[in-house]
Amino acid sequence: MGEPLRVALAGLGTVGGGVVRLLGTNRELIARRAGRPIEVVAVSARDRTKDRGFDLDRFAWHDDTAALTRIDGVDAVVELVGGADGPALTLARGTLAAGRHLVTANKAMLAHHGLELAASAERAGRALKFEAAVAGGVPVIKGLREGAAANAILRVYGILNGTCNFILSAMEATGRDFADVLAEAQARGFAESDPSFDIDGIDAAHKLSILASIAFGTRPAFGSVEAHGIRQVLAADIAEAAALGHRIRLLGVAEESAQGLFQRVHPHLVPLDHPLAHVAGSTNAVVAEGNFVGRLLFQGAGAGDGPTASAVVADLIDIARGEWGLPYAMPAAALTEARPVDSGARRARAYLRFAVADRVGVLAEIAAAMRDAGVSIASLTQREAAADGTVLVAIVTHEGPERSVAAALERLRGSQSLAGQPLWMPILA
Ligand code: NDP
Ligand code: HSE
Repeated sequence: MGEPLRVALAGLGTVGGGVVRLLGTNRELIARRAGRPIEVVAVSARDRTKDRGFDLDRFAWHDDTAALTRIDGVDAVVELVGGADGPALTLARGTLAAGRHLVTANKAMLAHHGLELAASAERAGRALKFEAAVAGGVPVIKGLREGAAANAILRVYGILNGTCNFILSAMEATGRDFADVLAEAQARGFAESDPSFDIDGIDAAHKLSILASIAFGTRPAFGSVEAHGIRQVLAADIAEAAALGHRIRLLGVAEESAQGLFQRVHPHLVPLDHPLAHVAGSTNAVVAEGNFVGRLLFQGAGAGDGPTASAVVADLIDIARGEWGLPYAMPAAALTEARPVDSGARRARAYLRFAVADRVGVLAEIAAAMRDAGVSIASLTQREAAADGTVLVAIVTHEGPERSVAAALERLRGSQSLAGQPLWMPILA
């Protein structure tokens, strides 16, 4: 058995606590697999007095996370504080500059600073590992970076946010309302410290930009990910989708073509014969389409203490074995600049939902806007008026360019017939 891998751990919340517990429970097995023990020697968090369910006296405590980079004998620092900048970034930069390995679950930091950190890790000859940053416990980073390394990836897409999937599938199964289910996701430790990152699609966009980089060999381009969340999705949309043989899922989709790189997070209608329609709760699932391997599906727990700790500790085991590889599967300098594509040219079937006043001529006005923009209607459903007198109209279009649907919605902007913003969702093909 070799010398222990000595680890300093910043952040003892949901994930950090899970890492301490996992390393304790599976200590001997991990040592056998890694060829050496993995020992946490120092920790940092905000509040020394908080009860975390384990004995803190075993570790050297530091109030200042940055101090972890200066401890003699530490081989690897694990950053589980969170936040794109601030103490997490200071710690990450300091760790690599000090010639230590870095493991992080922080997709926000990677989406904004991943390229810089990867270059720094390469210069130092140290690891930058982040399996937990995308899809929690699901080994999709390793799967793409190593297992699918021989393939040109044509498209990568999937359910990347456990909180949103938990909310959508609970609303669908139980009819509970949005706020109530969000509170449960927070209590279970799935949600980000600012849950608007989850429900507005930003967390999934962070993850998509990381996946796209690895899949396509492009520089992380979070700024060109279109991010939309699930706030506008009503229980009535979920019921309407079900009546159409679909389920609503928040998907991140990245696709490379001759025109450039398309990256978008948006709620979609997913047909029931697609595996993603059956992914429920906080489970994540990522589909990658390779030119030789075909369709790969990575699926499992996308959030929570145990699954996320599993991914963090797997990274530490790789480091203990001396097998860490390049963060983005190729040298940072070899990653190319991604050219964002014009999404208006994308062709899809779409679901459109309008809340309208219950009066003569409203449907004709919507239909005229569709006709004038060249959008072909495949089906139209109108439900009985609600107590407030509004009626929901759901339209499914034939396949056509997104820019035509956008033009139809633009024609209806400001119409006195509409109560609130229409909702547009692509239908996954
Ligand atoms: P928590 O909020 O549960 O934990 C954050 C930890 O960081 C706490 O221990 C907190 O200290 C500590 N902390 C916060 N600010 C500071 C600071 N300024 N200085 C020192 N310590 C600080 O977050 P999670 O464990 O949920 O998430 C951690 C990271 O993992 C994030 O990047 C998140 O996006 C990512 N992640 C989370 C997943 C999940 O399911 N929760 C899944 C995948 C990734 P204290 O406890 O004293 O308040
Ligand atoms: N808030 C994130 C989610 C945690 O719900 O998916 C896992 O990255």
